[in-house]
Amino acid sequence: MKIIVAEDRAAASKCAADIVDHFVRGQRRALLGVATGRTTEVLYAELVRRHQQDGLSFAGVDVYLLDEYAGIDPDDPCRFRNVVQRELAQRVDLRRDAVHCPDPDAPDLAGECCRYEYLVRSAHIGLQILGIGSNGHIAFNEPGSAFDSVTRIVTLSEQTRSDNARFFGDDRPVPERAITQGISTILAAAELLLLACGERKAAAVARAVHGPLCEMVPASALQLHASATVVLDPDAASLL
Ligand code: F6R
Repeated sequence: MKIIVAEDRAAASKCAADIVDHFVRGQRRALLGVATGRTTEVLYAELVRRHQQDGLSFAGVDVYLLDEYAGIDPDDPCRFRNVVQRELAQRVDLRRDAVHCPDPDAPDLAGECCRYEYLVRSAHIGLQILGIGSNGHIAFNEPGSAFDSVTRIVTLSEQTRSDNARFFGDDRPVPERAITQGISTILAAAELLLLACGERKAAAVARAVHGPLCEMVPASALQLHASATVVLDPDAASLL
């Protein structure tokens, strides 16, 4: 595992953007796995800037979402599909059909999880962008998720629901369930890039990077991957 500690949050986002930029420019057809959240918001803003100012094209890119809330209105701005559209897809030259995500409105949710698992596995993601939850989750693989887990419906932990309440405001409850790629689905990507910023992530980062492999710390599974890079700001790296 390669660990990069950048000067500050902006530098960490730029460093992660360099890795994505290099990956995207390096191939005619690039399959990119995307996470959502406050951390990746800054990364996507930097990628949009590079598209607008430095000629970074996403015309040959397909993006695959890691996860999606269940029981959420299709037009809800917090729905991850809408987040990726708003923060990235609509602001760069991604093809209209290039955003792939699990459908939480499918009548057969178990079947939808199988469909998405198959789609992601057969696509062979080249670079998977990840964030980390304050409880060590990756995607919505909460503590206790098996390292051999695949795409499935999960119940969100109280910690995750309380962390994500800031996106929903006072008027809407955070959904209780989600569809998430499993840990083994994520580990199948050729390259992993985890970006973490802020003191709130420091304990989870330390356990993921230096702790034992442990299903109670889902991000520790990155230690099993041959090509994982962790990019941190000094606050997130403060307990390393
Ligand atoms: C969401 C996802 C989550 C987030 C994580 C960090 O698609 O994969 O694992 O990456 O919860 O979220 P922020 O960046 O909001 O702290």
